[in-house]
Amino acid sequence: MSWELNTPTVNIGGDIRGRCGETIFTILHKFYLNKSNKQSDKLTTRQNFHKPRLMRKILFKKNNFKTAWLILVTFVIVVHSTAQTPKLTLDLTKPGANVSPMLYGLMTEEINHSYDGGLYAELIRNRIFKDNPTRPEGWSLVNDDTVNTKAAIKLMATTQDNIPYDERRHAINGALQTCLRLTVEKAGARVGIANEGFWGIPVKPSTTYKASLYMKGTARTEPFRWPWEPKPTTPPLPDIEDNTAGPITVTIESNDGKTIYASGIINLARSPFWKKYELTLTTPATVKPTTDARFVISTNRIGLYYFNLVSLFPPTYNNRENGNRPDIMKMLEDMKPKFLRFPGGNFLEGPLITDAFPWKQTLGPLENRPGHRGSWGYRPSDGMGLLEFLEWCEDMNAEPVLAVYAGYSLNGDHVDAGPLLKPYVDDALEEIEYVIGDVKTHWGAKRAADGHPQPFKLTYVEIGNEDWFDRSNSYDGRFNQFREAIEKKYPQLICISTIADAQYPNLKVISGKKPAVLDEHYYRNSWDMWANASQYDKYDRNGPKIFVGEWATREGAPTTNLNAALGDAAWMTGMERNSDLVIMSCYAPLFVNVNTATATAPKAWQWDSDLIGYNSLNSFGSPSYYVQKLFSQYLGNKIVSITAQNIPTQPRPLTRRDSMQGTTKQELVPTVFYSATMDENSGAIYLKLVNTTGKKQPVQINLNGIAKVVPNATLITVKGSQPDDTNSIKDPEKIIPLTSTIKGIASVFTRSLDPYSVSILQLQIAK
Ligand code: AHR
Repeated sequence: MSWELNTPTVNIGGDIRGRCGETIFTILHKFYLNKSNKQSDKLTTRQNFHKPRLMRKILFKKNNFKTAWLILVTFVIVVHSTAQTPKLTLDLTKPGANVSPMLYGLMTEEINHSYDGGLYAELIRNRIFKDNPTRPEGWSLVNDDTVNTKAAIKLMATTQDNIPYDERRHAINGALQTCLRLTVEKAGARVGIANEGFWGIPVKPSTTYKASLYMKGTARTEPFRWPWEPKPTTPPLPDIEDNTAGPITVTIESNDGKTIYASGIINLARSPFWKKYELTLTTPATVKPTTDARFVISTNRIGLYYFNLVSLFPPTYNNRENGNRPDIMKMLEDMKPKFLRFPGGNFLEGPLITDAFPWKQTLGPLENRPGHRGSWGYRPSDGMGLLEFLEWCEDMNAEPVLAVYAGYSLNGDHVDAGPLLKPYVDDALEEIEYVIGDVKTHWGAKRAADGHPQPFKLTYVEIGNEDWFDRSNSYDGRFNQFREAIEKKYPQLICISTIADAQYPNLKVISGKKPAVLDEHYYRNSWDMWANASQYDKYDRNGPKIFVGEWATREGAPTTNLNAALGDAAWMTGMERNSDLVIMSCYAPLFVNVNTATATAPKAWQWDSDLIGYNSLNSFGSPSYYVQKLFSQYLGNKIVSITAQNIPTQPRPLTRRDSMQGTTKQELVPTVFYSATMDENSGAIYLKLVNTTGKKQPVQINLNGIAKVVPNATLITVKGSQPDDTNSIKDPEKIIPLTSTIKGIASVFTRSLDPYSVSILQLQIAK
């Protein structure tokens, strides 16, 4: 393939030294020689033409001034119109290499409240009271009459040292061992517990929410005590009557409690044992959407009330139980992802070996899911479990790329290859069996019991995540042990190594077979993206295939801005032109809850520069999101080879690293990027063009090798007036794709690219 990116012939904003410039200077030279032979000797070299002072002297010499001026004007016009116009020649004489059918996908993990407080539609924060071992985070006491009511809430945990031994006895099962107790000694009016949700419970008109909770209500009962045990000197609980049985009110209401948006009643049984209650709450059509709301369970009777696994779901995507938010799912579907890489990322590994993604305890009913310590500073509920990930793939018509824990965690601990690693390898084999095993297998049967008898499609298994951080050099052995076991049982599966040869040549897997696919990660600024957009042009075609499993242009927070989108688009043209080699790519992180800190909840995100932002009510795409979506949507099945000429460049500002290294020469970086693919069946050509500068940029396009092209084409652009233009929860559509029809398409045509723009031209070969 000829992927010739013609390096700079024209330097925007600097001296004009291009080939065409040279020609004009030659004309000027000749003119001057005719007019004045005095100085001709001095102007025999090209070098001399670049000496501005000398030029001025010659041009402004009295007699020659008028003519020279005319020539200069002509020169400027010519230079800026035709001669320097970048030229892209698309070779349509023969079909190019195949575009990888898996090229664009998604990467996901629990970061920035991606699931809890994000895609996963659960609205209750800390529903099993385990988020914080010392206080019921997200929960508060509701007391409508502080004068006449005496009430308190307390976290109760069977495993907690700050609770007297005889109070540690309210577990529902091994997963649900912590609960919340509401003690009502005097009830002047309504008293209860409130959940603030994930930065607010979203209220929408005419919406039915499904609520469920475990509850029991009793008077004070003497806790179990062996006969030889002394009675506590201070009783743990006040002596109160058992008035708990009867109606309990459940509401979605404003945070000040003044407006009730939806309300329902459950009938609490007279029983000291746990019972699950379910009800629905429906908002009226007149309600204005808001996030300024809470979920309340209340009574006006004295007693002791215990709560666990409190859940509230709005309508979900495809009405799936325990499902996802429809608005975010729609945005993902629109991206047409071919795969979903999960469950991480750092989330796969966990801070410690014991915190790795515990896929087995994310299966089955929510009652069996204790959650676990996540990798990003908050405790995931694991409501988004292994099956939910797989069904999410299915809903998007995408294939899972399953990352299995490979014995290395974020604190740097690793499990050496050999017998110590075997349990982890076995665990991965079981996980794979859950995904693709026949219903007759142990884990296939479990999947069927969980409601999905049909095995899922799986081609790629990733062994760990970013194992270049493991400086013990154990990955070589760990990768091989996993790969051998996986390939033995599932020869059809392809194992991905997380250490890229190009990035970490000293750490790469060297023993055994060469890994078939390497996962490379790039988090860069836009200059780095532009400077490296053609890096895959130079990769060895006989080496492993490349999966760019995490990457992003990191500019703008919490979601990225237009300049980042220009960096992304440039980078994507490079991947697309080389998609015979780069078989998969996915941006990261995908999601961010954009809420800032409140009095009771911390800032929602841990990682700046994310693709899709949301609060509990609304979601929006960053400019980068639209670039991802368009690149994936407008993609053919064959790469079209392009030869480029006169690609303009700009000097890259010197970086801190440059000054540390004593580099003073500014690197020239292209300002126009391009790729093209073609749909062999329909004859559609998708030409992607990026202009990273604030000036309009004409580009001449030559369609080489086709007899006729339809004169009208569809043009989709993502653009803005400033590089830091962005979308936000308050201004979600400042930058969105604009579609138009353009005329005058011929086998040679010129298109002027808008400033700061990504353009996709859909051309059509005429029959
Ligand atoms: O995408 C955020 C983090 O970046 C991922 O969890 C990790 O793999 C990478 O370092």
